[in-house]
Amino acid sequence: MMLPRHVAITMDGNGRWAAARGAPRTAGHKAGLEAVRLCIKECSRLKIEALTLFAFSSENWRRPAEEVTTLMSLFVEALDRELDELHRQGVRLRFIGERGALAMRLQTRIAAAELRTAVNTGLKLQIAVNYGGRWDIVQAARALARDCAAGALRAADIDETRLASRLALAGLPDAELLIRTGGEQRISNFLLWEAAYAELYFCPRLWPDFEAADLAAALAFFAGRERRFGNTTAARTGAAGS
Ligand code: IPE
Ligand code: IPE
Ligand code: MG
Repeated sequence: MMLPRHVAITMDGNGRWAAARGAPRTAGHKAGLEAVRLCIKECSRLKIEALTLFAFSSENWRRPAEEVTTLMSLFVEALDRELDELHRQGVRLRFIGERGALAMRLQTRIAAAELRTAVNTGLKLQIAVNYGGRWDIVQAARALARDCAAGALRAADIDETRLASRLALAGLPDAELLIRTGGEQRISNFLLWEAAYAELYFCPRLWPDFEAADLAAALAFFAGRERRFGNTTAARTGAAGS
């Protein structure tokens, strides 16, 4: 079966999962961690090159302060608890997003986790925290503008490759399969650039309920797609006829 090199997941539906149980929304975020573990394990087992998980968007600050605070604490706790095991699995962990706005204790752990796992050769795992696709494109444009101002780059030399090299996911293959749980069929400012040709898979399951069979279904869906990238089937496959 043809596997994607890079799977990206918008982990949505934690709040609804909790509400259905009469529990506070934060209980859903806690429960979602199990699905995170499972996806990392499965992608490692299948030797998928990269997995990018959307954990907190640049717009999620709009939520009630209490929910935001709990989420941030959960990130810190999850890192403290899971890092040894991730390292043991050979995972290379990175965070994407504007980290300057995060609490210092989270920034410190992120830096330590990235440093510790930097030379690992297993799954390339990206966690998007305070990430927005628009933010990413803006910060890349700013970096290029700085190079131009310094005389190191000419505006005419800026092309897709050069811009992509300044994005948070530079060096990774484009997202090939984008999964969103929770039933909403929207992008919500996730990988705007890298998902240009991603196959989109919307799963009605709420994130804490996401299990191995759901990931398998998404991968089977991907394997069944014909990826034309703007070309025609005939030209792509070299078949006769128009
Ligand atoms: C996704 O679940 C997790 C984050 C955005 C942090 P939600 O919290 O958005 O859950 P729903 O969509 O309200 O059910
Ligand atoms: C997208 O989910 C962000 C994450 C899963 C981290 P949201 O719940 O924030 O998206 P909207 O508000 O439904 O678009
Ligand atoms: Mg949501």
